[in-house]
Amino acid sequence: MTNVQQILQTAIAASHTGGAILRRYFEEGVIMRDKSQDGGKSYDLVSDADEQSEAAIATLIRDAYPTHELLGEESLQGGDVDSDHLWIIDPLDGTNNFAHRIEHFAVSIGYYENGQAAAGAIYNPVHDDLFTAVRGEGAFRNGKQVHVSDADTLGRSMIGCGFYYDRGAMMKATLAAIEDCFSHHIHGIRRFGTASLDLCMVGCGKLEGFFEYNLSPWDFAAGSLFVTEAGGKITDARGGELPIGSSSVVATNGHLHNALTEITRRHHP
Ligand code: IPD
Ligand code: CA
Ligand code: CA
Repeated sequence: MTNVQQILQTAIAASHTGGAILRRYFEEGVIMRDKSQDGGKSYDLVSDADEQSEAAIATLIRDAYPTHELLGEESLQGGDVDSDHLWIIDPLDGTNNFAHRIEHFAVSIGYYENGQAAAGAIYNPVHDDLFTAVRGEGAFRNGKQVHVSDADTLGRSMIGCGFYYDRGAMMKATLAAIEDCFSHHIHGIRRFGTASLDLCMVGCGKLEGFFEYNLSPWDFAAGSLFVTEAGGKITDARGGELPIGSSSVVATNGHLHNALTEITRRHHP
């Protein structure tokens, strides 16, 4: 087994460990707390489930790779993104779905070697649905290789999108881009609420494209590799390279990349 394959096995084990914690809290119920700073409006949520999932994932990775760096959404935000061996973790992606008892959420774990995504695992613990990718070795759903779709016009496409927690200029830009997509006769727009799984849907050929004007690295670290290993393309909303940091994101099957980034560039907030 190559080193990266071993790393993928650790990512899978960690996603199962975090996922088991999420599943237990999802079944038993948990109190959601507000972490948004927007005048007390409660839509950016966190809970013991996110925090315990992240802690358990971190312990498992640190036991296996004590010298590696960890970056994660809850207590791991200080992780050094310039590290040669970097794990990027969203212990619960789709918190709002989780809070509303919608079974569409995931653990997302990406591993970056020398600044490049090298392995990733995304796991929906309710559906026991596992998405994995290793650089140069393809993208897999529950062990079966997947590929992006071959639709080559917006008129044959289903487009996913996401709204950042901002309810101002960014939301207006997103709505304008959606309207623009419809004017190109797309089949439809979907907003599923879990960016990592949205990216998996692009890789699995269910969505032809996906865009969001602001995502954090833990939202797309694993999913970006999944998209490219499935034959797709991922950039920021202007068509530039994705940083290991907060960024706009556009992912497509490749054929539609110019067409979709033309739209997202036009409305960029
Ligand atoms: C969110 C989800 C959502 C996306 C938001 C993310 P969280 O992550 O991925 O789909 O639209 O921008 O912040 O907060 O549920 O981990
Ligand atoms: Ca997230
Ligand atoms: Ca999260």
